[in-house]
Amino acid sequence: MIDLRSDTVTRPSEAMRKAMYNAKVGDDVFKEDPTVNKLEQYAAELLGKEAALYVSSGVMGNQICLNVLTNPGDEVICERDAHIFNYESGSPAALSGIQLFPVEGNYGVITPEQVEPIIHPTSAYYMTRTKVIEVENTHNRGGGTIWPIENIIALKNLAKKYNLFYHLDGARIWNASVATGISVNEYASHFDSISCCLSKGLGAPIGSIVAGTKDFIKEAYRVRKAWGGGMRQVGILAAAGFICFAE
Ligand SMILES: Cc1ncc(COP(=O)(O)O)c(C=O)c1O
Repeated sequence: MIDLRSDTVTRPSEAMRKAMYNAKVGDDVFKEDPTVNKLEQYAAELLGKEAALYVSSGVMGNQICLNVLTNPGDEVICERDAHIFNYESGSPAALSGIQLFPVEGNYGVITPEQVEPIIHPTSAYYMTRTKVIEVENTHNRGGGTIWPIENIIALKNLAKKYNLFYHLDGARIWNASVATGISVNEYASHFDSISCCLSKGLGAPIGSIVAGTKDFIKEAYRVRKAWGGGMRQVGILAAAGFICFAE
């Protein structure tokens, strides 16, 4: 029987289990786990970013990124059905003290024409400070919508015009890449930060990747630890990540 409820109900393949069994491990809180280090380096190269960080889940990946990009009181613009707005347990408010400004999209896709009027001018000190525009590609509640690359670029240009950060919830960016032929590297190149999952459709039992500049990842590493996400001999799990890309 094929279980179509979700792409998260997959089980690790034989090859994955073997890789996990054979994984070389060390204490990742000391940055001494060779398998995690290798996976992070591989993911950074794949995504064309300076550095990457292995985290336990997609929610943790998104929330670490938002925390690093903002200060308490800041605002993040996202689509109304975005995962960060609907399914992350209110953690933008709870963990980072930020608020989200959701915009009604077309199957999850929003446009610069919709977003520009809601960006608050920095000159108005009494207004909430807009800090980030967030995109979800593919868009889960949008029905798996693939964001047209022109939209991604148009919104990036808007973000840059207003000095905003641009974050990609790329939990399923691999799906978009396979369907369009646009590499994950090209998708990621438009964003300051990206979070993507190894546990959705790729078969890994756990794990997500966050990627960005070296400075961004240095801070993400600190936040991950502060939130209890520092793991020890976690190469045993990260080993499954390599098989995701190989299979
Ligand atoms: C678009 C999107 N982002 C983030 C997540 C969060 O991932 P996780 O369940 O691994 O925390 C999901 C989960 O389904 C998702 O669909």
